[in-house]
Amino acid sequence: MKRVIFNQKGGVGKTSITCNLAAAFAKLGRKVLVVDLDAQCNASQYLLGDSFHEKHATIADFFESLLTFKIFSSPLKEAILSTPFENLSIIPGDRCLTEIQPKLEARYKIFKLRDSINEIIQQLGFDDVFFDTPPALNFYSMSALMASDRVLIPFDCDAFSYDALKQVMYAIEEVTADHHPELVCEGIVVNHFQQQAKLPQEAIQNLQNAGFKVLQPYLSTSIVMRESHAAHIPVVNLAPKHKLATEFLTLANTLDR
Ligand SMILES: Nc1ncnc2c1ncn2[C@@H]1O[C@H](COP(=O)(O)OP(=O)(O)O)[C@@H](O)[C@H]1O
Ligand SMILES: [Mg+2]
Repeated sequence: MKRVIFNQKGGVGKTSITCNLAAAFAKLGRKVLVVDLDAQCNASQYLLGDSFHEKHATIADFFESLLTFKIFSSPLKEAILSTPFENLSIIPGDRCLTEIQPKLEARYKIFKLRDSINEIIQQLGFDDVFFDTPPALNFYSMSALMASDRVLIPFDCDAFSYDALKQVMYAIEEVTADHHPELVCEGIVVNHFQQQAKLPQEAIQNLQNAGFKVLQPYLSTSIVMRESHAAHIPVVNLAPKHKLATEFLTLANTLDR
């Protein structure tokens, strides 16, 4: 299954959720690929640590190759890197993504990621692909939506998040209607949940009243997430018995295969 985690709001947990769900699927024995489409490269730093800075092909090499005609090359495949975690690979992000974006838009390359990912899945036998997206509805997040079977929307229980969420839903409906009718919105992933606080409970109730599909379990706020980013080890690997890790593993188990 190909999955994109998207919300144009920054800091909602896209990267944390992408990497931990991917790591949870890998722990369940699935062969998993993360694709980092954000020029900030947080997913690459999270999963690769210092080795991210070693010279290696990135997702930008793939997109650049679309702008120069080459017959015998498969730059997307060449950019795949193993992570230290069993069954988990990544195509690293690149700061150059920002620079080449206008050229890609001008030349209508929006379906190229989908086509190449499908080839890679066939050739290398990945069970699941997770796309981490930038905090914007731009060429890269659109390419990921086009390439995916499912979309997950993180929601951070913040007062300003409801409007952002409505915009995401509208954008997804538009993509589905105009370009990709098979794309299924799998639901909203609640992040930064605090059991004791009243506001998150109310925010979630509002979503449900508005008819949004809210997935269970909710992901708790915990310092272990920051520790995990600092250690470059997903929470599900760093502290598998931690409440947040079990929430990720339970959530992974409820998602479509
Ligand atoms: N459940 C959580 N508990 C505590 N901190 C979290 C949690 N989820 C994300 N964070 C922190 O919030 C910040 C933003 O998360 P991130 O995954 O980078 O969001 P995005 O990719 O949407 O910008 C990071 O510093 C991350 O460590
Ligand atoms: Mg991010």
